[in-house]
Amino acid sequence: MSQVTVLDDDPIAGLQLAALRDANTTPEHFRHHARRLGSILALRAVRDLPRTEGTVETPLATAPTVGPGRQIVAVPVLRAGLGLLGGLHDVLPTALVGMIGLERDHETHQARRYYFKIPPLDGSWVLVLEPMLATGGSASDAVAALDAEGAELVTVLSVVATRAGVDRILADNPRVRIVTAAIDPELDDDAYIVPGLGDFGDRLFGTPH
Ligand code: URA
Repeated sequence: MSQVTVLDDDPIAGLQLAALRDANTTPEHFRHHARRLGSILALRAVRDLPRTEGTVETPLATAPTVGPGRQIVAVPVLRAGLGLLGGLHDVLPTALVGMIGLERDHETHQARRYYFKIPPLDGSWVLVLEPMLATGGSASDAVAALDAEGAELVTVLSVVATRAGVDRILADNPRVRIVTAAIDPELDDDAYIVPGLGDFGDRLFGTPH
């Protein structure tokens, strides 16, 4: 798997993204499509997961099996990342969950960490759920913190990224992987992605912007 995967060749991901971008999508439907995209992003991220091999008895004979060979730990960045967590658990039900709370200062656009609760990570594959990679600052901070906790591999799952955000995360964390549904052209003066989809957390939870 390459270090950055953009799901622009995936029509099912494209359908979910179109609905998330649509300004008329209600929070109820936004949550539905975010969940579906969470499943799609998670499945793509673990394609190269080391496997464990075993066997199972069918009614007729013994059949070989494969399964995940590492513990998966999902780490939503609060609060927007929660929108992808249900979909991740739909396809990876045994994933453990850590949480990182990062708050964006609307003046400086810098992220401040206010919460960090993570299960033991030694040897785990960690999937950071950060839907909007604008400047990449908050995701980069999260990846560095999880690396320091002993994760074997950290992959960031994103809905919309910018090239600058992706480049920043890669520059700060050379081992990281990124899976995103789209890379958009630019940021506006308030560090919102354009065309983007607006404020992911507000649209997910119906809070006024
Ligand atoms: N966070 C969001 O929710 N949306 C953006 O466009 C950028 C950061």
